[in-house]
Amino acid sequence: MNILSLFDGMSCGQLALKRLNISYDNYYASEIDKPAIKITQKNFPSTIQLGDIKKLSSADLKSLPKINLIMGGSPCQGFSFGGKGLNFDDPRSKLFFEFARVLKEINPKYFLLENVRMNIKSQDIISNMLEVEPIKINSSLVSAQNRVRLYWTNIPVDKILEDKCMILEDILEKDVDLKYLAGEKLQREYKGGNQLNPKFKSQCNTIYNRDGKFGTLCAGTHGYSFGYVSDGALINKSTTKNGKAYALTCSYSGAVAWNSIERQQRTMIPVCKSNNKDNPNVIDGYYYRKLTPIECERLQTVPDNYTEGVSNTQRYKMLGNGWTIDIISHILQGILMTENKTIKLESFGEILEFADSLGWIDTYGDATKGNWNPTEADACEDSALDFIESKGYTINLEN
Ligand SMILES: C[S@@+](CC[C@H](N)C(=O)[O-])C[C@H]1O[C@@H](n2cnc3c(N)ncnc32)[C@H](O)[C@@H]1O
Repeated sequence: MNILSLFDGMSCGQLALKRLNISYDNYYASEIDKPAIKITQKNFPSTIQLGDIKKLSSADLKSLPKINLIMGGSPCQGFSFGGKGLNFDDPRSKLFFEFARVLKEINPKYFLLENVRMNIKSQDIISNMLEVEPIKINSSLVSAQNRVRLYWTNIPVDKILEDKCMILEDILEKDVDLKYLAGEKLQREYKGGNQLNPKFKSQCNTIYNRDGKFGTLCAGTHGYSFGYVSDGALINKSTTKNGKAYALTCSYSGAVAWNSIERQQRTMIPVCKSNNKDNPNVIDGYYYRKLTPIECERLQTVPDNYTEGVSNTQRYKMLGNGWTIDIISHILQGILMTENKTIKLESFGEILEFADSLGWIDTYGDATKGNWNPTEADACEDSALDFIESKGYTINLEN
């Protein structure tokens, strides 16, 4: 199997394939952002980088082996319309048409296009060209982030995606470096409410509850622009939507309109700290901090430290640009359903780990928390195996 990933970023597509244990012969990536390419090559050294999509000629595409899957998330919010018609040359429209051009020339068995919500006119143009309607999914089902995205695909997607009921508290790091604290002046002047600076209502100024969800991560060019969280205590004021954080979004080139919902949804979280040197247990104020890159990775269900190796600014940007891996793997799972893949599992631990990676919810207890009942081991294994099979795998149990 050969894969072509357009606008590959930090190769979230490849992470999703790995999560599903889908092996492939070659993974071709079209990407122009150097830090993103660096992270892809660090994690997946055999990725074949093809560069700028606009420079991929027909001859270049013909020289590739048979491609089975094309996927990508083109950096566009919608199309630009000049007069009554579509402005094909406008950069806001152009990159989607590059995706469509490559898709048409290669004509793979499967494709997947991800994008933000957009006006219905733009959405219909994409749907007409790709001949499928998009599926709308909120990443909040699998993570502590609210991130609604549209997915156009011809892969048969399982409509059922169980809510993992994750909240911010589940993904926060302990003992976070003080460098992540919001500016002292900003905190001193804070008057309550869900905006740290009441004069500037936006997601990057929003305080998020630890018992809720975070906002949409976005790819701000100036680094961190998501919002704050408290360090230590629950804050009662609810600043989140249905307990979820808003999605990480991308703000470069004004991609997120200043007064848009996406922009307002950028977030921060509260930090509780003591100023009492004699008794640090006395909490005398709430302090707010930004999310760390690892926490942003967790919001995107990306493994910890995957993006390590570039500046924090670049890490935040590529995570805001990136995909929620568990959503992409849920979609790509449909390929397994069609192709009926065999998975070799050698131990009880491996079975549980693989079922878990596919979204299985273990209700049988946890040995590390002291509530594991060994007499239920068989039932637990059966449940995990059934779940794996329900996702289209044939299981080969090796002892
Ligand atoms: C929305 S992000 C997609 C991120 C990706 N899905 C991931 O897994 O990280 C869009 C990406 O398109 C890239 N891009 C922009 N113009 C491009 C071009 N002409 N050719 C290839 N990639 C481009 C950007 O650098 C950015 O990483």
